[in-house]
Amino acid sequence: MSPKLVLLLVTLSLHYYAHITTASDPDPIQDFCIPNPEFGVTKLAHLTILPCKNSSEATTDDFVFSGLRSAGNFSESGLATIPVNPIVFPGLNTLGMSFVRADLKAGAVNPPHFHPRATEISYVVQGSVYSGFVDSSNRVFASVIEQGEVMVFPRGLVHFQMNVGDKPATVFGSFNGQNPGSQKIPSAIFGSGIQAELLEKAFGLTPKQIGTMKRKFDPKR
Ligand SMILES: *[C@@H]1O[C@H](CO)[C@@H](O)[C@H](O)[C@H]1NC(C)=O
Ligand SMILES: *[C@@H]1O[C@H](CO)[C@@H](O)[C@H](O)[C@H]1NC(C)=O
Repeated sequence: MSPKLVLLLVTLSLHYYAHITTASDPDPIQDFCIPNPEFGVTKLAHLTILPCKNSSEATTDDFVFSGLRSAGNFSESGLATIPVNPIVFPGLNTLGMSFVRADLKAGAVNPPHFHPRATEISYVVQGSVYSGFVDSSNRVFASVIEQGEVMVFPRGLVHFQMNVGDKPATVFGSFNGQNPGSQKIPSAIFGSGIQAELLEKAFGLTPKQIGTMKRKFDPKR
């Protein structure tokens, strides 16, 4: 092998190695970056890393978040989530992490969903939660996670939770990314506007059954 080819292969494999070991948010280039409210960004989807305000204007309050003291608003199905990202907690901006509080009433479910940009550590603060994920060969890894235990959901893999205790459960999830994104499988499939004919063929369901699913997961409902 020519020395040039060897060099090229080494460079390529180092590049690959660096890529797989640093697949996360970019490193900060300053101590912190409190978003500048003048830019008026209200959704992380609009801008992933928010522009900073002058660091001399940062205050302790920018680094403290008090919105997790109690559960969020429960949905009809008994799930309440409070996602905490740099929009609601300015101090997190550029630090490569974010988190969520989820409360589940007895029997309630956090439906199958995934975070395209982050791995999640899920810590059961209270209760017994059947938790699991499915890998890309459709193998399921699931178990009842008791108070004080954690489970990890690898980045991009579908995962789910169900409160199997008889009391409310509280779970704290932390992400290695400031904008993990969250895609719920039922709404992505039935609530996104994919043509009914395709869904009928893909799932072997009748138009009536597809209609029921579309109404159930319609985001405008
Ligand atoms: C940031 O604030 C300091 C103190 O008020 C000021 O001296 C500096 O010029 C400001 N920097 C910018 C880029 O506006
Ligand atoms: C719960 O709902 C109330 C009333 O709509 C709202 O003011 C509040 O911000 C919501 N709480 C959370 C954590 O989303």
